[in-house]
Parts: sequence; structure tokens; C-alpha cells
Amino acid sequence: MEIIKAHDYAEMSAKAAELIAAQLLLKPDCVLGLATGSTPLGIYDELAHKVAAGSLSFSRARSINLDEYVGLSADDRQSYAYFMRENLFKKVDFADGANNIPNGTAADVDAECARYDSLVEQLGGIDLQLLGLGPNGHIGFNEPSDAFEPNTHLVELTAETIAANARFFGEGEHQPTRALTIGIRAIMQAKTVLLVVNGEAKAKALRDALFGPITPRLPASILQLHPRLFVVADEAAMSAIDR
Ligand code: F6R
Repeated sequence: MEIIKAHDYAEMSAKAAELIAAQLLLKPDCVLGLATGSTPLGIYDELAHKVAAGSLSFSRARSINLDEYVGLSADDRQSYAYFMRENLFKKVDFADGANNIPNGTAADVDAECARYDSLVEQLGGIDLQLLGLGPNGHIGFNEPSDAFEPNTHLVELTAETIAANARFFGEGEHQPTRALTIGIRAIMQAKTVLLVVNGEAKAKALRDALFGPITPRLPASILQLHPRLFVVADEAAMSAIDR
């Protein structure tokens, strides 16, 4: 694993964006695994600036997102489909139809999960998977559990994750408690994994993920076994790591 320390969120975002830009330059028709949440917002801004400046293009790339809330349509302002459109897709030059997100309103959830896993295969796997880290060590919405779940699956979000994400929802606004998430296999089979972490609230989870026992109780710990893992973290997130 390669750990890249950044001073703060802005520097973390710039460094992570450089790695994604390098992936696009090396393989313009790559498959990018993308994440939502507050962590990648700065990265997406940096990438949008590069596209606007003419130094980067997504025109031949495809993307596949990690997860989506169950029950939210792509038009819902709280859906991850909406988040991705607003924060990245409409600001860069992906071709129409190049972006994929699980369908949170699929009537047949099992069929949707199977479709998503087949899609990853049809795309030839993921070249670079961008990941944020949950305070409880989740990646995608692979929550702490008794076993690593290899496939795309329906997950009941933990109370901790629901609480951590409550900041995105207004007072009285419905917050989903279930999601579809890509499984551990597609993440671990990505050729490159880019884990991006900021803030002291995740310092312990980051330390345990990188240096603690590999356990499904802390799903990100499996990344220790990934042959090409880049971790970009700010000083606050690195504060529990003493080496
Ligand atoms: C998002 C995702 C989650 C987040 C994680 C961190 O698609 O799959 O694993 O990356 O919950 O969220 P933030 O960045 O909001 O702290």
C-alpha cells in the first residue's frame, strides 16, 4: 500500500484528483468506480476544473457507482444518482449512457443486484475504485458484519451509518435505512483502489483498517490484501497512526 499524507482536505482532494487524472491519461477508456458522500466533493471539483481547462477528458471512460438508497428514484434529490449528476456528471464530459448506478427503485431487488454484478463483468471490471471510509469502517455500504459479502446486495444500514448520514437530510425529511451496495469482490478485483479519508472522526477507523486485524467487523480492513492500494488522507485522519 502507498500512503500519501495531505495537509488538509484541499490538498487531499488535489492529490486524489491527480491519481484519477493519471488513470484517465494512461487508459482513456477506463472504468472508474465512483463514490458519493462528502469526501469526494473536492476531488470532483478538481476533476471538473481539469476538464474545463482542457487538460482532462472522460469522453471514453465509463463509471460504476458503489451504491444507492433503496426506494429513491434517480430524480430524488437525496438519491446518489442525483448527487452524481449534480456534483460530477453534468460538469465533465462523460458520453451519454456511460454512467451506472444501482436502481434503488427496482421491483426485483435480487435481479437488480445480479444485473449490477453482471454489468461489472461486462465492463471488464473496475480499473480504479475510489472509496470513502465510513466511521465504522464501511466501504461502499458494506457494513460491519460476520462475513465479507462478495456480491452486490441489499443492506440494512447500521444505526451509526444512519446517524453519520443524517447531516445530509433536512428536518422531517425521509432518510432511507436500506441501500444496494456493490460487494467486496468487485472492490477487491479493481486494478487500483484509491481510499480517501479526511477528518479526525475517522482516525481510529483508518488506523484499524490499515494496521488492525483483517475482519468483516471492519470491512475496509480487507483492503490490506489489495495489491495496488493508494490511501490519500489528511493529517487529522492520520492522527491515530504513529508510524
Ligand atoms: C458513498 C459510500 C460510503 C461513503 C462513506 C463516507 O458512496 O459508499 O462508503 O464513502 O460513508 O462518507 P463521507 O464521505 O460522507 O464521510
